[in-house]
Amino acid sequence: MTTPAHYQQKGQIALITLDSPPVNGLGHPLRQAIKAGLETALANPDVKAIVIASAGKLFCGGADIAEFASGGFDREPRLPQLLVDIENASKPVVAAINGMALGGGFELALACDYRIALPQAKCGLPEVNIGILPGAGGTQRLPRLIGAEMALQMGTSGAPVATGKLLQAGAIDRIFEGEPADFVAAAIAYAEELLAQGAPCKTCADLSVENPGAEFFAEFRQSIARKTRGFFAPERNIQCIEAACELPLAEGLAKEAELFQQCAASPQARAQQHIFFAERAATKIPGVDPKTPLRPIAKVGVIGAGTMGGGIAMNFANAGIPVTLLEVKPEALERGLGVIRNNYEISAKKGRLSEAQVEERMGLIQGSLDYADLAQVDVVIEAVFENMDIKKQVFAQLDKTCKPGAILATNTSTLDVDEIAAATSRPQDVIGLHFFSPANVMRLLEIVRGAKTADDVLMTTIKMAQTIRKMPVVAGVCWGFIGNRGLEPYGREAARLVMEGASPEQIDKVLYHWGLAMGLPSMIDLAGIDVGYLTRQGNREALYGRDDAYAAVCDALYEAGHYGQKTGKGFYIYEGRNKQSNPEVIKIAEALAAKHGIARRQISDQEILERCLYPLINEGAQILDEGIAYRASDIDVIYCNGYGFPVYRGGPMQYADEIGLDTVVEALKKYQSELGDYGQTWFQVSPLLQRLASEGKTFKQFDRQ
Ligand code: NAI
Repeated sequence: MTTPAHYQQKGQIALITLDSPPVNGLGHPLRQAIKAGLETALANPDVKAIVIASAGKLFCGGADIAEFASGGFDREPRLPQLLVDIENASKPVVAAINGMALGGGFELALACDYRIALPQAKCGLPEVNIGILPGAGGTQRLPRLIGAEMALQMGTSGAPVATGKLLQAGAIDRIFEGEPADFVAAAIAYAEELLAQGAPCKTCADLSVENPGAEFFAEFRQSIARKTRGFFAPERNIQCIEAACELPLAEGLAKEAELFQQCAASPQARAQQHIFFAERAATKIPGVDPKTPLRPIAKVGVIGAGTMGGGIAMNFANAGIPVTLLEVKPEALERGLGVIRNNYEISAKKGRLSEAQVEERMGLIQGSLDYADLAQVDVVIEAVFENMDIKKQVFAQLDKTCKPGAILATNTSTLDVDEIAAATSRPQDVIGLHFFSPANVMRLLEIVRGAKTADDVLMTTIKMAQTIRKMPVVAGVCWGFIGNRGLEPYGREAARLVMEGASPEQIDKVLYHWGLAMGLPSMIDLAGIDVGYLTRQGNREALYGRDDAYAAVCDALYEAGHYGQKTGKGFYIYEGRNKQSNPEVIKIAEALAAKHGIARRQISDQEILERCLYPLINEGAQILDEGIAYRASDIDVIYCNGYGFPVYRGGPMQYADEIGLDTVVEALKKYQSELGDYGQTWFQVSPLLQRLASEGKTFKQFDRQ
């Protein structure tokens, strides 16, 4: 049996080597092994100092998150006590940080007396990203070593910091500049050196933190308020660091433990950990071998240099991959390349890119008006107008032009990928790659697997997405795939609620307070009322065929030429950055309500929330039942990464699990009966949702089946 840590004696130094692949997660077995190593070293009079090192690429990735759910986290030795034991050990302990030291891994290093590190290693406290805080002394020991301000930054951002910077700040004692292969020997030599100098054992209990004062903390809270809006854990991180400034170590640790428990037991921690695991699960495709040999992607083609094509091209240039950007007309190409350059120049002005990098990236994007330039590309992504006939023509042309084995992808946001594939003689090479706007910024990439898409095409695009730093999620073919199909009922309700008596402001306020980046009326104005209108035309039968008042307010705005932000008028009136109510919307809503026989009324915030979110959850269940999504958690990854859903809710399906599927079903049924024909048409409960709710189950349980 392999042991998670090895114990060796090197002269007067005991070497404890963490060896628990893949990341030296501090689960129960590794904690036990560290404790045993520590006790052996302390009991042996020949051992004078201890080095803790890693056999892997990382020093230590921190707590084993799966243990939070299994209860393993609480098994003795618990990490906080183990680290107190290390800190109080009677012999000096040196941490040898060869790679990432994250969360509990960094806390382990902080509890040691001395820290030596490789310059390429980084340390961080990413707990805040999964809804908790460092619960093994990190919030108390780190500020004692580097001061409150930097500890606040690290604790609330979760971002890792290079060891060189931590050396300057005081959390690292020495950087080893030699060969990484010699690092453990160097750490042992460092321990010998410390012994020769008679260096003492150290404890953070002897250190205090200079209290920067209440005003400083208030300003810090203000500075992160926008980014952390609605999140529970960042504020608790701050409170821990305030405690570190005010209390002795032991009391600070007790406070940290209390606040850790508050975070760990919160729905937000469950939601954020759900998304953490969901993102990792999303790239595993049932029935497809993860070792499927991939096609090489060295050259890329993009067709259409509009809003999406330009952003898509930038993703590849940013990753150092050359792109040929094809347009029909020279003016369109010139305009598209100009927008790309402008985007890069803005980044340069903000100091995110150097001028040389701007030129390097522009140099990787080659404009073209000739399909022959796409003959040798490995993948081509079409981003022309959302029109089936045009897309089919483009794909027929690609079929004639591209080399055998080239992946032919479409960025369509709603259309039938199988129909597009049928325009070629090689449907196995065709796939949907649905980027989100702005494509160079948004992390989500919805990959649409056609009926005939080859497994290696699918797996290659997943890998490619990761190369360009996107979060891939795979969907099947249907109108709108996962993301836009689910969005449709959610947008439908917003428009309908305006007709029934809610104001756009009220709807926005409710959804924003729930945690969305913006409410629906604002989002529709931003995305373009025209875009929504044109998209609905591609699905007329399913929408207007069932409801002649479908999206009536949006359509009326469209017909009046109000497309949202781009025309200065939509659900709101825009002047520069200012946004004001648009009184016309209420007039339109009143007229339409009268026309369709709808009695306008006061609508409660609760009704707005339920009517926007529950139909999305219901559609999600239907998407799942039809096999369009492999897992409920994939749906959550899509909404959190592509539609501004707050990670702390974990996405619509996790939210439904949290409030109970029976609650959702009950409310849907209530609206079904209260809203007359409209309710009968749109509030039918999905059979899967109904079944799970009756069985008292969750979507998570469904995913695990
Ligand atoms: P756009 O109108 O900004 O750009 C389309 C570009 O394609 C134009 O520059 C046009 O000159 C060019 N074009 C048209 N026909 C062409 C052809 N046959 N050959 C070469 N170039 C051609 O449109 P946008 O917004 O970039 O949308 C493109 C595609 O991306 C659509 O399928 C759309 O549904 C999809 N999409 C759009 C999103 C958005 O938020 N705008 C989000 C996700 C997907």
